[in-house]
Amino acid sequence: MKVGIVGCGLVGSTAAYAMVMRGVGREIVLVDYNEARSRAEANDIYHAVPFAHPLTVRAGSYADLAGSRAVVIAAGVNQKPGETRLELLQRNAAVFQSVVPQILSYAPDAVLVIATNPVDIMTHLTIRYARDYGVPASRVIGSGTMLDTARFRTLLGIHLGVDPHHLHGYVLGEHGDSEVLTWSLVTAGGMPLEEFCQRRGVRFDEEQRQQIDRDVRRAAYTIIEGKGATYYGIGSALARLVEVILHDQRAILTVSSATPESWDGPSVTFSLPNLVGGSGILATFPPTLTASENGALCASAEVIANAVLGV
Ligand code: 2OP
Repeated sequence: MKVGIVGCGLVGSTAAYAMVMRGVGREIVLVDYNEARSRAEANDIYHAVPFAHPLTVRAGSYADLAGSRAVVIAAGVNQKPGETRLELLQRNAAVFQSVVPQILSYAPDAVLVIATNPVDIMTHLTIRYARDYGVPASRVIGSGTMLDTARFRTLLGIHLGVDPHHLHGYVLGEHGDSEVLTWSLVTAGGMPLEEFCQRRGVRFDEEQRQQIDRDVRRAAYTIIEGKGATYYGIGSALARLVEVILHDQRAILTVSSATPESWDGPSVTFSLPNLVGGSGILATFPPTLTASENGALCASAEVIANAVLGV
């Protein structure tokens, strides 16, 4: 039950902290090109163990990743205020070209979990680099729109007065500006959104939907404007994703993966609902959407297809 985390900035470190709080795995190894940083983060997080779950946290080198069941890659630069995720592509692609082979030379059987932005394209590139090591695409998973889906469910929960754990609803497509909130798939207690609102007497007009759409789509920009980075949401999403992998939990998550043959839009790597287990992506389900949602999802795929041409 060893987990590696490569890249110990705010996202990688917060993912490790969230794993300790949640009790995910038995041993976490932090790797960073700045060894003083990974040592400091490992010590700080390890000191939380007596208040949480009994696992070990230590800094290490790539060689220490040997035997990892999952390796999270959070290396690279993140957005400055006003910058889009896609603008990070060239810089982070160069980082991955060096990092992915080093991970796989020591942990060839690990499931690779990608967190670095633009996450869909970094996942695509990792699939490409990992192929040379005999790693199937299904063993590479991007965090994709897991976080956006959580943001969507959080805001819906507030509006409807329901615990977000009991709301189903997905943000699909690019983890970025073109993502699609699939309102037609939202259910609460097995009821479509409209029926639930009617039966509970909750008002939900077009203006309120647009407000939630904007708040989900702009969440990262707003947070980065206020404090320079986002990390609690994504760190928690990564801890949950690693937990699903370590325990073969077979959860349905909106993670980033290569689109399946049954998807009739452009072939890219982005988020659709995926069945995730111990060996990675077990199945991907292109959903039945309204015509406008489907058009938006294909447009989102085009955004990614065009960005990939640039690397
Ligand atoms: C987020 O959505 C910046 O991708 C990061 O929080």
